[in-house]
Amino acid sequence: MTSTQHPQDPTSALRHEAGASRGARIIGTGSDLPEEIRTNFDLARTLDTSDEWIRSRTGIGARRIAAKGDKTSDMARRASQRALEASGLTGRDLDMIVVATVTPDRPLPSTASLIHHQLGARTDCAAFDVAAACGGFCYGLTLARAQIESGLARYVLVIGVELLSRIVDWTDRGTCVLFGDGAGAVVVGPTDASSTGRVLATALGVDGSLTESLTIVAGGSEEPPSDEAIAAKRHLVRMNGQEVFKAAVRYLSEVSARSLTQCGLTPDQIDWVVPHQANQRILEAVGDRLGIPTSRMVLNLERYGNTSSASIPIALDEAVRGGVIKPGQHLLFCALGAGVAFGSAVVRW
Ligand code: UT7
Repeated sequence: MTSTQHPQDPTSALRHEAGASRGARIIGTGSDLPEEIRTNFDLARTLDTSDEWIRSRTGIGARRIAAKGDKTSDMARRASQRALEASGLTGRDLDMIVVATVTPDRPLPSTASLIHHQLGARTDCAAFDVAAACGGFCYGLTLARAQIESGLARYVLVIGVELLSRIVDWTDRGTCVLFGDGAGAVVVGPTDASSTGRVLATALGVDGSLTESLTIVAGGSEEPPSDEAIAAKRHLVRMNGQEVFKAAVRYLSEVSARSLTQCGLTPDQIDWVVPHQANQRILEAVGDRLGIPTSRMVLNLERYGNTSSASIPIALDEAVRGGVIKPGQHLLFCALGAGVAFGSAVVRW
C-alpha cells in the first residue's frame, strides 16, 4: 500500500487492482408500483377524453397512482430493497446512490439522502439526485458505469422514481392522461471473470433550445411559490406535445445510434430495446429509423403510462424477473424528456 491510500478506503484496493479495464454490469434489479390503477375509462368520467383517443394516440390504457401519504422516497426505498436483494448486497455495500427524479420528496434535502439513511448506507457512500427528467435513468447509469470503470466505486445504486400524479394538472387532458407513478432501481457493480454482463456503451445529450416545450414554470427560484402561481397552475407540468414528439423521434434515434457505434454493434444484434415508455407511436417511429421492430421492444406503457425516469428500470425489472431477458442478450436503453435531455446505453446481460 502506498502512503496515498487510506487503509479504510474501500475503493483504494479496487483502484489498485482494477485499473481502467474493469467493466460495470447490472447485478440486481427491482421495482415498485402503486396498487391503485386509474384506467382511461376512469379519466373519461371527469375529463373530455376517451379510451379510444388515449390508446390510439399513445398506446396507454392505464396508469398507477400513489396512495395518499406515500412519498417518492417510499417507492424508491422499496424498489431499491428488491434490487439489493436480487444482487445479494445490503445498503452497507454501496459506494454511491444516484436518484433520478423530478419529483423529489422535498426541494431539500435530496431524495438520495433520505434513501441513504433508510438503506443503512455507510457515511462514505455518496448520494445525490440527478435532474434529467425522463432521461434521468440513462444519466444515472452512465455515472455508475464511469465510477466503477474508473475504480472510484465498486457498487452503485441507480434509482429512477417519479410521483408524477402530484405535479400534473388533472384538468389538462393533453398531459394528465400520459403520466403515472412508479420506481425502478438497479445495482451496478464490477464485472468479474465469470460474468457475462457488462454496460458496453453509454451516450448522453441535450437540446437546450427546447426547454420551454416541457416545463414547470413556478416553484423554483425564477418564480417562487405564490398564491397567484398556484391559481394559474404554473406549479404544474406544461407540455407542447408535438414539439416533444418530434424531438423524441429524432434524438432517441440519434442517441441510440451513438451507443451502438460506440460498442460496434448493429441494430440487428440487439435482442431487446428497453425504451423510455412515453408513446407507442414515438417508439414505432424510432424503431423504423433504427430498423428494430416494436416486437423486439420491452413495452409496458399500456399498463403504466409514462413514469419518466422510472420507466426503463421498471420495464427492465419486469423483463428480467419474467425470464424475457436472458444472459448474453444485448439490450438497448434509450430515453428522452424535459430539457430536452436524452440518453442511451447498450448492455450485454
Ligand atoms: O416523456 C417524454 C415527454 N413526453 C412525451 O414524449 C410526449 C410526446 N408527445 C405526445 O406523445 C403527443 O404529442 C400527445 C400524445 C401528447 C398528443 O398527441 P398528438 O397526436 O400530438 O395530439 P395533439 O396535441 O396534436 O392534439 C390533437 C387533438 C387536439 O384537438 P384539436 O385541436 O385538433 O381539436 C387536442 O385538443 O387532440 C386533442 N386532445 C385530446 N382529445 C382527447 C389532446 N389530448 C386529448 C385527450 N383526449 N386526452
